[in-house]
Amino acid sequence: ARRVRTHHLREMKERGDKITMLTAYDMYTAATFDEAGIDLLLVGDSASNNVLGNETSLPITVDELLPLTRAVAGAARRAMVVGDLPFGSYQASPEQGYLTAVRFMKEAGAHCVKLEGGVEMVPVIEKLTRGGIPVMAHIGFTPQSEHALGGYRVQGRGETADRVRRDALAVQEAGAFAVVMEMVPGDVAAEISAELAIPTIGIGAGAGCDGQVLVWQDAFGLRTGRMARFVKQYADVHSVLLEGARAYAADVKGGTFPAPEHTF
Ligand code: KIV
Ligand code: NA
Repeated sequence: ARRVRTHHLREMKERGDKITMLTAYDMYTAATFDEAGIDLLLVGDSASNNVLGNETSLPITVDELLPLTRAVAGAARRAMVVGDLPFGSYQASPEQGYLTAVRFMKEAGAHCVKLEGGVEMVPVIEKLTRGGIPVMAHIGFTPQSEHALGGYRVQGRGETADRVRRDALAVQEAGAFAVVMEMVPGDVAAEISAELAIPTIGIGAGAGCDGQVLVWQDAFGLRTGRMARFVKQYADVHSVLLEGARAYAADVKGGTFPAPEHTF
């Protein structure tokens, strides 16, 4: 299959074909989601929580995320691979952002990068896009600003809807090829999606977006416990692995593995 490109995403929006995106942080999940026809694979800084075991996305570093990105880029035949710029690796200046994004493209093979922020990120988005790096923006609730935003909260309710709308228009004008909207009221996200020419990818932003993204450990049930309202669970990988591990342990302890056919 042909590689998904930014212009394909724009054409999908124009046709009304929904865009699919999942996170991936390693080669097997990347290859599997690619085989399923997922359009975009995001090597999210959510690897901080979902792979490295941190409480938030803040601690993950560029050096930690690059090898995961390389694994995903190496396995994705069709999907467009999005490198997620970690907290502190692009906010200082457009130059810092450009140099970080170049590392994701050169050292890890990402096809584009994602960064958080709206109006305030315009100079960074302009710098990257002028330098040949496609940028996906991320507005609404932006996890890297969790402490500044006062925790996980819906953004754009009531009179703050216009702020999210201004962010969306600003990142489009700056050259972003798409924009993630996280935890934005469905009616607000739908209006913004209709107004923008570039595709919107929603997470907790309702069905009016041009595409959807979920963290795979949430969507397929590797993570257990309380899930955000916007998550739908499509599989129960935790149970599959738990049963597999218990059966293996029972076989080893009971002496039924390895059997003669596993033995040289
Ligand atoms: O890091 C991530 O997983 C993300 C998505 C939730 C959009 O940024
Ligand atoms: Na992220």
